Amino acid sequence: MKKCFAPLEGITGFIFRNTYHEYYGGIDEYYTPFISVNQTRKLKKRELEDLLPENNHVPALVPQILTNQAEDALAYIRMINELGYNKINLNMGCPSGTVVAKGKGSGMLRDPKALDNFLESLFYGLSTMFPSPIKLTAKTRIGIRDISESEEILSVLAKYPFHEIILHPRLQKDFYKVPVHMEVVKSWQKVLKVPLIYNGDLNTPGDVHNLCHTYPDLEGIMLGRGLLWHPSMLSGNVDSCTNTEEIADCPEEDLRKLKEFHDTLFNRLLEVMQEPNNVIHRMKELWFYLGCNYPDCEKQLKNIKKAKTIDDYRIAARSLFCR
Ligand SMILES: Cc1cc2nc3c(=O)[nH]c(=O)nc-3n(C[C@H](O)[C@H](O)[C@H](O)COP(=O)(O)O)c2cc1C
Repeated sequence: MKKCFAPLEGITGFIFRNTYHEYYGGIDEYYTPFISVNQTRKLKKRELEDLLPENNHVPALVPQILTNQAEDALAYIRMINELGYNKINLNMGCPSGTVVAKGKGSGMLRDPKALDNFLESLFYGLSTMFPSPIKLTAKTRIGIRDISESEEILSVLAKYPFHEIILHPRLQKDFYKVPVHMEVVKSWQKVLKVPLIYNGDLNTPGDVHNLCHTYPDLEGIMLGRGLLWHPSMLSGNVDSCTNTEEIADCPEEDLRKLKEFHDTLFNRLLEVMQEPNNVIHRMKELWFYLGCNYPDCEKQLKNIKKAKTIDDYRIAARSLFCR
């Protein structure tokens, strides 16, 4: 079963993806955080850097776009295709209020008729404007406010030749905390004629084992926060896990590797990102997750959170690793 690293805006840029792959591996396909499509029809410098094949050293990278305008989507798909990508993912899951208010991300699920019209134009453009086939995939939630919305959304998606669908079985209103609605997965598998990738709350090898055994027909799984909480989660043999296997305290060897991963990532971010504050901000985002591996280090973690300069950050991180 294919293993994908979920897009995580603000965290999984190319430096993170390359460094994760170098230290941990075990992932078949990485996704870029969403590229916000707009009418300028130009990739921002940061977006271009994130996409350039020479910056990416992972087995496969799938760029993700966020839009509800077919013409703009096609213009971006063309630019991304010219960089060498023929598989592109459409974000239909972002729950953020500002995105949803514009009818993008999971906001596209509010009006299935409008979604249908958008997809019709998009797939028409894909079939007529590109010399070689574009594999369009979607990463979607199941509705906005109520699980009963799922059926109509599913029937719209089922009309179109997506290459794959990535299902995050939550509603927009659920954001990321409410338990996933696993009860819809079987019906999505049954109705969709295209390969399905499951995403959501796979946080331990046991979670992965259970899911793969309950849904053996899935094309793949996508993991996000689980790989930030426990970066080595997929390094062992997940297939041999029992369903009771959870993640114990991080063994010393894993902590050593985590330090090396951290140091390499931090130094590479410093080399590439011009603004030190952005590096500190990015590292703090990561510590929001990594921190759980250091349960007795509240004080050191607080110092990382408070760090304002690169030197503060270095001192705080060093004191955590040398505790
Ligand atoms: C900080 C953060 C940033 C995210 N950025 C994106 C994004 O750019 N595109 C996207 O499709 N999903 C994004 N997501 C959602 C994740 O890709 C994923 O669907 C979600 O975290 C559930 O999977 P998980 O339980 O394995 O983390 C983001 C989630 C978080 C927490």
